Amino acid sequence: MLKIGVLVSSGGTNLQAMIDACETNGYPAKIVSVISSRSKAFAVERAKKHGLPCEVILKKQYEEQGAYEAAIIKNFETQSVELIVMAGFLTVLDGSFFERYENRIMNIHPSLIPAFCGKGFYGLKVHEAVLEAGVKVTGATVQFAIEETDAGPIILQKAVDVFDDDTAEVLQKRVMEEAEWKILPEAVRLFAEGKIEVIGNRTRVNK
Ligand code: GRF
Repeated sequence: MLKIGVLVSSGGTNLQAMIDACETNGYPAKIVSVISSRSKAFAVERAKKHGLPCEVILKKQYEEQGAYEAAIIKNFETQSVELIVMAGFLTVLDGSFFERYENRIMNIHPSLIPAFCGKGFYGLKVHEAVLEAGVKVTGATVQFAIEETDAGPIILQKAVDVFDDDTAEVLQKRVMEEAEWKILPEAVRLFAEGKIEVIGNRTRVNK
Protein backbone atom coordinates (compact mmCIF):
# COMPACT_ATOMS: atom_id res chain seq x y z
CA MET A 1 0.00 0.00 0.00
CA LEU A 2 1.56 3.28 -1.13
CA LYS A 3 1.69 5.86 1.65
CA ILE A 4 0.76 9.35 0.53
CA GLY A 5 1.07 12.75 2.15
CA VAL A 6 -1.25 15.48 0.88
CA LEU A 7 -0.45 19.21 0.90
CA VAL A 8 -3.49 21.49 0.90
CA SER A 9 -4.39 25.18 1.29
CA SER A 10 -8.00 25.48 0.20
CA GLY A 11 -11.37 23.80 -0.12
CA GLY A 12 -9.93 20.34 -0.42
CA THR A 13 -12.18 18.88 -3.10
CA ASN A 14 -9.17 17.16 -4.65
CA LEU A 15 -8.22 15.87 -1.21
CA GLN A 16 -11.80 14.56 -1.00
CA ALA A 17 -11.38 12.80 -4.36
CA MET A 18 -8.24 11.15 -2.96
CA ILE A 19 -10.02 10.20 0.28
CA ASP A 20 -12.89 8.64 -1.68
CA ALA A 21 -10.47 6.71 -3.91
CA CYS A 22 -8.49 5.45 -0.91
CA GLU A 23 -11.73 4.25 0.71
CA THR A 24 -12.53 2.19 -2.40
CA ASN A 25 -11.79 -1.54 -2.27
CA GLY A 26 -8.56 -2.46 -4.01
CA TYR A 27 -7.17 1.06 -4.33
CA PRO A 28 -3.40 0.68 -3.86
CA ALA A 29 -2.68 3.83 -1.79
CA LYS A 30 -3.60 5.32 1.55
CA ILE A 31 -3.33 8.83 2.98
CA VAL A 32 -1.07 8.83 6.03
CA SER A 33 -0.72 12.59 6.46
CA VAL A 34 -2.44 15.83 5.46
CA ILE A 35 -0.61 19.13 5.90
CA SER A 36 -2.39 22.44 5.43
CA SER A 37 -0.68 25.80 4.97
CA ARG A 38 -3.87 27.59 6.07
CA SER A 39 -5.67 27.00 9.35
CA LYS A 40 -9.06 27.91 7.89
CA ALA A 41 -8.81 25.66 4.83
CA PHE A 42 -11.94 23.50 4.59
CA ALA A 43 -9.59 20.68 3.57
CA VAL A 44 -8.66 20.44 7.27
CA GLU A 45 -12.30 19.66 8.16
CA ARG A 46 -12.45 17.01 5.47
CA ALA A 47 -9.30 15.34 6.81
CA LYS A 48 -10.61 15.40 10.38
CA LYS A 49 -13.99 14.00 9.34
CA HIS A 50 -12.23 10.98 7.88
CA GLY A 51 -9.93 10.55 10.86
CA LEU A 52 -6.79 11.37 8.89
CA PRO A 53 -3.68 12.70 10.66
CA CYS A 54 -3.74 16.42 9.83
CA GLU A 55 -1.32 19.15 10.81
CA VAL A 56 -1.58 22.87 10.08
CA ILE A 57 1.94 24.19 9.42
CA LEU A 58 2.00 27.92 8.79
CA LYS A 59 4.91 29.54 7.03
CA LYS A 60 4.69 32.57 9.30
CA GLN A 61 5.53 30.39 12.32
CA TYR A 62 9.06 30.06 10.97
CA GLU A 63 11.74 32.67 10.45
CA GLU A 64 13.26 30.88 7.51
CA GLN A 65 11.93 28.96 4.55
CA GLY A 66 14.31 26.10 5.40
CA ALA A 67 12.83 25.69 8.88
CA TYR A 68 9.30 25.71 7.45
CA GLU A 69 10.14 23.02 4.95
CA ALA A 70 12.01 21.02 7.61
CA ALA A 71 8.76 20.89 9.59
CA ILE A 72 6.90 19.49 6.57
CA ILE A 73 9.68 16.98 5.87
CA LYS A 74 9.74 15.87 9.52
CA ASN A 75 6.02 15.16 9.44
CA PHE A 76 6.25 13.21 6.17
CA GLU A 77 9.32 11.23 7.30
CA THR A 78 7.62 10.31 10.56
CA GLN A 79 4.66 8.97 8.59
CA SER A 80 6.95 7.23 6.03
CA VAL A 81 5.34 9.11 3.14
CA GLU A 82 6.35 7.69 -0.25
CA LEU A 83 4.44 10.07 -2.54
CA ILE A 84 3.46 13.70 -1.93
CA VAL A 85 0.31 15.05 -3.55
CA MET A 86 -0.08 18.81 -3.88
CA ALA A 87 -3.84 19.24 -4.02
CA GLY A 88 -4.45 22.96 -4.24
CA PHE A 89 -1.32 23.86 -2.25
CA LEU A 90 -0.67 27.58 -2.55
CA THR A 91 2.55 28.07 -0.59
CA VAL A 92 5.85 28.35 -2.46
CA LEU A 93 8.45 25.69 -1.72
CA ASP A 94 12.18 25.88 -2.48
CA GLY A 95 14.02 23.95 -5.14
CA SER A 96 15.73 21.81 -2.49
CA PHE A 97 12.33 20.42 -1.43
CA PHE A 98 11.53 19.33 -4.98
CA GLU A 99 15.01 17.85 -5.44
CA ARG A 100 14.65 15.83 -2.27
CA TYR A 101 11.42 14.28 -3.54
CA GLU A 102 12.27 14.17 -7.25
CA ASN A 103 9.47 12.47 -9.21
CA ARG A 104 7.67 11.80 -5.93
CA ILE A 105 5.58 14.99 -5.79
CA MET A 106 2.43 15.23 -7.89
CA ASN A 107 0.56 18.45 -8.57
CA ILE A 108 -2.90 18.99 -10.07
CA HIS A 109 -3.47 22.07 -12.21
CA PRO A 110 -6.83 23.13 -13.70
CA SER A 111 -5.79 23.67 -17.32
CA LEU A 112 -4.18 21.80 -20.18
CA ILE A 113 -0.52 22.65 -19.55
CA PRO A 114 1.36 24.41 -21.16
CA ALA A 115 -1.68 26.67 -21.60
CA PHE A 116 -2.90 28.87 -18.75
CA CYS A 117 -0.24 27.90 -16.25
CA GLY A 118 2.78 29.25 -14.43
CA LYS A 119 3.10 32.12 -12.01
CA GLY A 120 -0.18 33.88 -11.21
CA PHE A 121 -2.37 31.16 -12.72
CA TYR A 122 -4.22 29.68 -9.76
CA GLY A 123 -7.80 29.24 -8.66
CA LEU A 124 -10.42 31.19 -10.58
CA LYS A 125 -7.74 33.21 -12.38
CA VAL A 126 -7.02 30.20 -14.59
CA HIS A 127 -10.63 29.91 -15.70
CA GLU A 128 -11.02 33.66 -16.18
CA ALA A 129 -8.01 33.61 -18.52
CA VAL A 130 -9.47 30.64 -20.40
CA LEU A 131 -12.75 32.51 -20.98
CA GLU A 132 -10.91 35.70 -21.92
CA ALA A 133 -8.87 33.82 -24.53
CA GLY A 134 -12.02 32.31 -26.02
CA VAL A 135 -10.66 28.76 -26.26
CA LYS A 136 -13.26 26.04 -26.74
CA VAL A 137 -11.46 23.34 -24.81
CA THR A 138 -9.69 23.42 -21.45
CA GLY A 139 -9.05 20.70 -18.89
CA ALA A 140 -6.70 19.57 -16.15
CA THR A 141 -3.17 18.22 -15.82
CA VAL A 142 -1.41 16.04 -13.28
CA GLN A 143 2.37 16.28 -13.36
CA PHE A 144 5.41 15.69 -11.23
CA ALA A 145 6.21 19.01 -9.59
CA ILE A 146 9.58 20.66 -9.99
CA GLU A 147 10.85 24.01 -8.73
CA GLU A 148 9.58 25.87 -11.78
CA THR A 149 5.80 26.23 -11.47
CA ASP A 150 3.76 23.84 -13.67
CA ALA A 151 6.83 22.75 -15.64
CA GLY A 152 7.47 19.15 -14.55
CA PRO A 153 6.86 15.89 -16.43
CA ILE A 154 3.18 15.55 -17.36
CA ILE A 155 1.50 12.34 -16.21
CA LEU A 156 -2.17 12.64 -17.21
CA GLN A 157 -4.37 15.27 -18.89
CA LYS A 158 -8.10 15.39 -19.54
CA ALA A 159 -9.94 17.81 -21.79
CA VAL A 160 -13.17 19.60 -20.85
CA ASP A 161 -15.46 21.63 -23.14
CA VAL A 162 -15.86 25.38 -22.66
CA PHE A 163 -19.37 26.67 -23.40
CA ASP A 164 -20.35 30.14 -24.59
CA ASP A 165 -22.30 31.08 -21.48
CA ASP A 166 -19.76 29.79 -18.95
CA THR A 167 -18.70 31.93 -16.02
CA ALA A 168 -15.33 31.23 -14.39
CA GLU A 169 -17.16 29.60 -11.46
CA VAL A 170 -19.24 27.33 -13.69
CA LEU A 171 -16.18 26.33 -15.70
CA GLN A 172 -14.10 25.70 -12.57
CA LYS A 173 -16.77 23.31 -11.30
CA ARG A 174 -16.95 21.44 -14.62
CA VAL A 175 -13.15 21.10 -14.82
CA MET A 176 -13.08 19.72 -11.29
CA GLU A 177 -15.94 17.27 -11.80
CA GLU A 178 -15.01 16.04 -15.25
CA ALA A 179 -11.24 16.12 -15.02
CA GLU A 180 -9.44 16.93 -11.75
CA TRP A 181 -11.27 14.55 -9.44
CA LYS A 182 -10.74 11.73 -11.94
CA ILE A 183 -7.17 12.11 -13.12
CA LEU A 184 -5.61 12.83 -9.73
CA PRO A 185 -6.64 9.52 -8.10
CA GLU A 186 -5.90 7.76 -11.40
CA ALA A 187 -2.35 9.17 -11.53
CA VAL A 188 -1.72 8.12 -7.92
CA ARG A 189 -2.98 4.62 -8.73
CA LEU A 190 -0.66 4.40 -11.74
CA PHE A 191 2.26 5.52 -9.56
CA ALA A 192 1.42 2.97 -6.87
CA GLU A 193 1.32 0.23 -9.50
CA GLY A 194 4.71 1.27 -10.87
CA LYS A 195 3.27 2.21 -14.25
CA ILE A 196 4.85 5.65 -14.63
CA GLU A 197 8.29 5.89 -16.15
CA VAL A 198 10.01 9.29 -16.21
CA ILE A 199 12.25 9.96 -19.18
CA GLY A 200 13.81 13.42 -18.96
CA ASN A 201 10.95 15.87 -18.71
CA ARG A 202 8.41 13.43 -20.13
CA THR A 203 6.67 10.36 -18.81
CA ARG A 204 5.69 7.07 -20.35
CA VAL A 205 2.51 5.80 -18.74
CA ASN A 206 1.96 2.07 -19.11
CA LYS A 207 -1.77 1.87 -18.37
C1 GRF B 1 -7.89 23.03 -7.89
O1 GRF B 1 -8.47 23.63 -8.99
C2 GRF B 1 -6.51 22.56 -8.22
O2 GRF B 1 -6.36 22.12 -9.53
C3 GRF B 1 -5.71 23.80 -8.02
O3 GRF B 1 -6.28 24.45 -6.91
C4 GRF B 1 -7.63 24.05 -6.78
C5 GRF B 1 -7.79 23.47 -5.41
O4 GRF B 1 -9.12 23.11 -5.13
N1 GRF B 1 -4.30 23.50 -7.91
P1 GRF B 1 -9.44 22.14 -3.93
O5 GRF B 1 -8.81 22.74 -2.67
O6 GRF B 1 -8.89 20.78 -4.24
O7 GRF B 1 -10.94 22.13 -3.83
